[in-house]
Amino acid sequence: MNDKKKLLITGAAGFIGANFTRFIANKYPDYTIIALDNLSPYGNRENIADLEAAGKIVFEKADITDIQKISELYAKHQIDHVVNFAAESHNDRAILDPSIFAKANALGAQQMVEVSRQFKVKRHIHVSTIEVYGEQGKDVPYFTEKSPLNAKTPYSAAKAAGDLLVRAYMQTYRDMDICITHCANNYGPYQFPEKLIPLAVSNLMQGKKIALYGDGMQRRDWLHVSDHCRAIDLILHMPKKVEFGEEAATDASKLPIFDISARNEVTNLEIAKIILDEMNLDFDQWVEFVADRPNHDRQYLINPEKIETQLGFKPVTNFNEGMRETVQWYMENRKWWEDILSRSKDLQMDWSGK
Ligand SMILES: NC(=O)c1ccc[n+]([C@@H]2O[C@H](COP(=O)([O-])OP(=O)(O)OC[C@H]3O[C@@H](n4cnc5c(N)ncnc54)[C@H](O)[C@@H]3O)[C@@H](O)[C@H]2O)c1
Repeated sequence: MNDKKKLLITGAAGFIGANFTRFIANKYPDYTIIALDNLSPYGNRENIADLEAAGKIVFEKADITDIQKISELYAKHQIDHVVNFAAESHNDRAILDPSIFAKANALGAQQMVEVSRQFKVKRHIHVSTIEVYGEQGKDVPYFTEKSPLNAKTPYSAAKAAGDLLVRAYMQTYRDMDICITHCANNYGPYQFPEKLIPLAVSNLMQGKKIALYGDGMQRRDWLHVSDHCRAIDLILHMPKKVEFGEEAATDASKLPIFDISARNEVTNLEIAKIILDEMNLDFDQWVEFVADRPNHDRQYLINPEKIETQLGFKPVTNFNEGMRETVQWYMENRKWWEDILSRSKDLQMDWSGK
């Protein structure tokens, strides 16, 4: 599968999509890369503007729910591989307006795989999230590809709906080569400054405190975005399609689904401490605890054994090193997040009156 691919990357102006576009453009300079995004308030064309200027990618502004436009782009660029990152991803915002999440994350997922079906794309990767598994019960040590989809927030329920639709295509159109990934929480450069780490650094640099939801003890499974890119790269270049039989109807781990994690569980409180240490700031002075968002998941952890054993995936970024570099990146790229803040409303959500 190391032919010169004509690769469509959707959500390419967002956090992970931009990192992945950069990763692929550097690693496979002979690929044709079409970077697509609808430039929602969370998409930032600047994240990949240098690649575009250098002619390493072609940018297309389009919405994945606009099936006609998407079909035209597949035809125009003769797309043969797809990685669909495009989604409404901001959990907090989904509570304020679930409808746009249902449209992008469920309908959008289906429409992308449908266009890939019509155009006989060689491999279609649908990027999903650990959050489709919902809350991790006390008796559940971790989630795996076998775990039931049990999403409980409007964001993750919309993603889970998208997963089910894509799974239905896997099972129904057996000639298609479709994969789904569920990744743990990503951190790294280019993350929209509404999310915990960039929000904390940008707040501190403006003399504002880190606002931790609830008691700050929500546990998350953290992976550096470059390791997520490595995992998707492995899936994109798997030499053979994953074949599956009837047993996949009752055991989702037999389907081409890969859960991605670095087995690295950290509380939000610990994240805040690492950031403050890196910035030489005192915890008591610079942290405040604020009202938690409604229905906030407490914990989720993924067991990535399948991708480790079947594809040899191994994260290479040490967490403390990766965090240090990430904090430094936001400190050094003040203009990048200041530009976003100047066109966005206050990014700190206030759930106290809800
Ligand atoms: N951030 C994480 O920790 C994480 C973890 C696991 C999985 N994921 C998944 O990875 C993907 C990317 O997440 P992210 O954190 O980079 O989010 P992001 O919000 O930074 O990026 C998403 C991008 O998709 C674009 N987009 C949204 N709706 C679109 C539409 N209808 N048509 C075209 N483009 C659209 C946005 O403009 C944005 O650029 C999502 O599918 C998300 O569910 C994220």
